[in-house]
Amino acid sequence: MKPWGLGLLLAAGVAGAADDPDYVRGEEIVMARCFLCHGATGDSSSPLYPKIAGQHPEYLRKQLRNFKRGEREGADMRKVMADLDEPDLKALAVYYSRQPPTRGNSSYPEMRAAGEAIFRNGNPATGLKPCKECHGDDAGGTDKTPRLAGQHALYIETQLSLFEERKRTNDNEKMHDVAKRLSIDEMRAVAEFLRGL
Ligand code: HEC
Ligand code: HEC
Repeated sequence: MKPWGLGLLLAAGVAGAADDPDYVRGEEIVMARCFLCHGATGDSSSPLYPKIAGQHPEYLRKQLRNFKRGEREGADMRKVMADLDEPDLKALAVYYSRQPPTRGNSSYPEMRAAGEAIFRNGNPATGLKPCKECHGDDAGGTDKTPRLAGQHALYIETQLSLFEERKRTNDNEKMHDVAKRLSIDEMRAVAEFLRGL
């Protein structure tokens, strides 16, 4: 948890933030109802909660909408989104997308190397596509795919399992095809690689 004062100080450092009404509104909502789980700047310290700092605004907005409409499971998130409207969602996406992303620490070089190979080349033997084809060379994401660089390994593994079991289905089936071809060891390795980026 980050105290109010620190959040405001950090936010004041974001260029042009004070002039942008969406940013200011977003910060207000974050301090009232998001920071306990995701942190004031989206750099959540618990691996149970995804890091969302520097995530693409279009991706963020879509996820918030999906949670609100029940198109993506997540009891905590559905409750918190219930009475927010479209302009609130836009403001939240502007605010969190403008926070600087952070990287994690990875101390397993062999696992990282195996994970990097999957990220860059996929696995031709099982028909697994390289992650970078959709998530970008540096895992920075696009307007259609999330940033994965620096994300908590546990969160990445959990989401891969949810896609595989079709408990998360808001991705147009793209990740289902990826996840069903990944072995448990490959999932762990690629998550370890990504969290250290
Ligand atoms: C009680 C804890 C809690 C609170 C409060 C909370 N969240 Fe979440 N949030 C979660 C959890 C848990 C997940 C992961 C859900 C899952 O397993 O798919 C999540 C997921 C998300 C995601 C998806 C991230 C991704 O990479 O796909 C976004 C975006 C998000 N939250 C934004 C917010 C915003 C904005 C608020 C405040 C309006 C908020 N959250 C409040 C717990 C919380
Ligand atoms: C064909 C395109 C494609 C490929 C290849 C792909 N992804 Fe994805 N990925 C997506 C899309 C699309 C989403 C979800 C978008 C949404 O929820 O709206 C996604 C979401 C994810 C998420 C959820 C992240 C979050 O913040 O909730 C993870 C984790 C993920 N991908 C990991 C991987 C890994 C690891 C690989 C390689 C083994 C990979 N992806 C390959 C398209 C792809």
